[in-house]
Amino acid sequence: MGPRILVTGALGQIGTELVGALENKHGQGSVIATDVRDGTGCQILDVMDAESIHSLVSREGVTEIYHLAALLSATGERNPELCWKINVEGLENVIAAARANGCRVFAPSSIAVFGPDCPSIAPQFTPLNPTTVYGKTKVVSEQLAMTAGVDMRGLRYPGLVSYKAPAGGGTTDYAVEIFHAALAEGHYTCFVREDTRLPMMYMDDAIRATLELMVVPAEELGGARGGYNISGCSFTVGQLVESIQRHLPNFTCAYEPDVRQKYADSWPNDIDDDVARGEWGWNPEFDLDGMVDAMFAGLQG
Ligand SMILES: NC(=O)c1ccc[n+]([C@@H]2O[C@H](COP(=O)([O-])OP(=O)(O)OC[C@H]3O[C@@H](n4cnc5c(N)ncnc54)[C@H](O)[C@@H]3O)[C@@H](O)[C@H]2O)c1
Repeated sequence: MGPRILVTGALGQIGTELVGALENKHGQGSVIATDVRDGTGCQILDVMDAESIHSLVSREGVTEIYHLAALLSATGERNPELCWKINVEGLENVIAAARANGCRVFAPSSIAVFGPDCPSIAPQFTPLNPTTVYGKTKVVSEQLAMTAGVDMRGLRYPGLVSYKAPAGGGTTDYAVEIFHAALAEGHYTCFVREDTRLPMMYMDDAIRATLELMVVPAEELGGARGGYNISGCSFTVGQLVESIQRHLPNFTCAYEPDVRQKYADSWPNDIDDDVARGEWGWNPEFDLDGMVDAMFAGLQG
């Protein structure tokens, strides 16, 4: 028998693609997609409702939980108390159900765990002093992975770039919005400066990393298990604009930094992912131009 999989937050940017990838791998009936919002092929499940999670997991014989429900950095900083509740209490509810039913858990971390004291190329092991509440919730998630008494794993996703679903209220949303604006208006007004350089990743790489991490035998994973650094490609907004101009030579971009500039400035420019490469063979496939080409192919296809 293959795994029986529960996905929370399945209607979001990652869930929209991860559910299909899990179904391709394990079979159509293997995945129960859930979200607090109503959506096609998705059951309602609020991760704040511990009892409902527990009864769904035991009733359906769930063996793996991909816990994607969260508030992201920009939305979270507008409502820090709710961000803490959903990201930490929601995760604790998922962990409790997993522990009671013997499930494995995937819970994403983020480059937001790093703070201004982190070197510009973020090492795997370094003090984690994030300035955002969102980042703090991800540090807690990584720590719980090591202490919760369940097989729980995570990746420090960089900003994820994809075309199938809108970005979900994070600081790196500009790297998704810019493509839609370029095609619709030929112009984008970016909320961070032109020289802002952040770690990013094309969604196909992120989904592959997730699937690859979850098949590694537990005994082969070390102290980074709660949040592996994985790098895709790092670029400035200016470099992204130039790459887009290969497709749309008349595309222009203006810069009007808002509060999200502060969050971006507190994060590293690049990621050192030697531990993920060494322990489970991580290797990204998409560089900046490859990602931009895939975005245009997807949006125009
Ligand atoms: N997208 C990125 O660039 C990125 C980067 C780093 C980490 N992550 C992490 O990956 C995970 C998924 O991110 P995403 O980009 O898909 O986010 P998203 O905002 O696009 O989707 C999150 C989903 O969670 C749902 N949700 C919110 N509150 C809920 C609740 N109480 N119960 C159930 N569902 C609820 C929302 O309706 C939404 O569909 C999050 O943990 C996020 O922190 C994402």
